[in-house]
Amino acid sequence: MEIKIVIDGIEPEKEYVLVSFEDISFVEVMKQLGINFYRPCGGAGKCMSCAVRFAYGAPEITSADERGIEFNDLRNGWRLGCKCIITKDCKIQVPLSLVSEIQSPDTLIADENLPLDKTNIAIAVDIGTTTIAAAVVDLHTGKILRQKNCTNSQTGYGADVMSRVKAAMEGHDEDLMNAVRNDLMNIGRQILGEDYLMHRVVIAGNTVMTHLFLHYPVDGMAKFPFVPYTLDSVRFAHDYKDIFFMPSISAFIGGDIVAGLYYIKKKKEPKNYLFVDLGTNAEIVLFDGNEYLCTSASAGPALEGANLRCGVASIRGAINHISISHGRVKYTTIGGEAPIGICGSGVIDLISELFRNGIIDSGGLLAEEYAEEGFPVAEGIVITGEDIQQVLLAKSAIYSAITLLVRESSIEMEDIEHLYVSGGLGASIGVWSAAGINIFPKELINKFEAVGNTSLLGNIAFITDQDEDALKEIKEKSRVIYMATNPDFEKLFLENLTL
Ligand code: FES
Repeated sequence: MEIKIVIDGIEPEKEYVLVSFEDISFVEVMKQLGINFYRPCGGAGKCMSCAVRFAYGAPEITSADERGIEFNDLRNGWRLGCKCIITKDCKIQVPLSLVSEIQSPDTLIADENLPLDKTNIAIAVDIGTTTIAAAVVDLHTGKILRQKNCTNSQTGYGADVMSRVKAAMEGHDEDLMNAVRNDLMNIGRQILGEDYLMHRVVIAGNTVMTHLFLHYPVDGMAKFPFVPYTLDSVRFAHDYKDIFFMPSISAFIGGDIVAGLYYIKKKKEPKNYLFVDLGTNAEIVLFDGNEYLCTSASAGPALEGANLRCGVASIRGAINHISISHGRVKYTTIGGEAPIGICGSGVIDLISELFRNGIIDSGGLLAEEYAEEGFPVAEGIVITGEDIQQVLLAKSAIYSAITLLVRESSIEMEDIEHLYVSGGLGASIGVWSAAGINIFPKELINKFEAVGNTSLLGNIAFITDQDEDALKEIKEKSRVIYMATNPDFEKLFLENLTL
């Protein structure tokens, strides 16, 4: 049978064709065609965000389709991409938002004019759950000579680390390892050619990402008490290679956070500070001058735009900033393109503005006129009451975790000297909007600094000074506070659910 794929919104239209002699899943078709298909929940049939449209040849409607797609849309050929099994000739239209490269607003600027002296360079790599970032660095000056990002191909197995752990345990461990290694090799080749492994490499990522890369077992991280195979740094130094993986602190406080703390330490560590890495999980570290108190708040994917009715990742066409004045909505999109949905920074702006304009109340309830259909932002793009509740859950988790860390520390909230926020969302959120919906305590707003990709920056710093004692000190002074087992967390969480 002949399967045709068209990506919606790409001009001029390009048709990809795959011929298969047996029944085949849509996911496998995309894989064979080499198109990265974004499945926010890893194909668990939970997020209902992966719908594609069959122009003809639509498969039978499944119960998952019925749960996630409206009757009229089903009649028009829409099906959940993650669940489709193709049995006959068909043509499938795939929304651009499911295949687009995710943009990283925290991309570091490389000085591309500087020559690339291959005898004098090293590579820093951040393996993010969504994006892989690599920088070629001058070994002596630490200057960034080249920089490249790509979407982590593992996103095909789910947007969050737990979906990847599940996929690995279901026998996809090698696929996951190969996916991320191939991504990295592609970046290496694009920047340096075939001899990219002839250079020193420093890699950081969350604990699950580095385990999958190294093909270590991840079963211990699937459930409580979340025990990784190793928390140590790993170094492969033989022949001409020197590849170093940053150590982790716990299953949820990985080498990317250690690299971030290393970066702050080397940059000029303040007397005390709060460090927040905003993503699906918010990793939070409070350094009170003596200890690094660490925790991870499960914020869910809402702040990254996933699982919302019209939410999208930070891709071209995503609405990233919104203001409302006199009932009129103004917005900007990534790349200045026609809007296709709202990403994390846009959602935070929107909720803050809806509250400021009295369109939602402090519990996040929409005014009656919007209660049914949601509040319209642009044509075909709305935010619903359910979306708002998801964001409130996320922001309450972060705010409550910060409050508890401060209680565990030797300092008060107002004593904190600096708030560092890393990660793509950190680089793009409007800090006053974040304050408007209480993601961060108000006392910290004028101490806010977006620090970009601190995992990559920490690796770059480590390339030049190789201070393993500093890494050891960070690990030894770290104490992990578990929110799930803290009796005060639930109480605080419920209290902080309002705006
Ligand atoms: S329902 Fe298909 S990826 Fe989530």
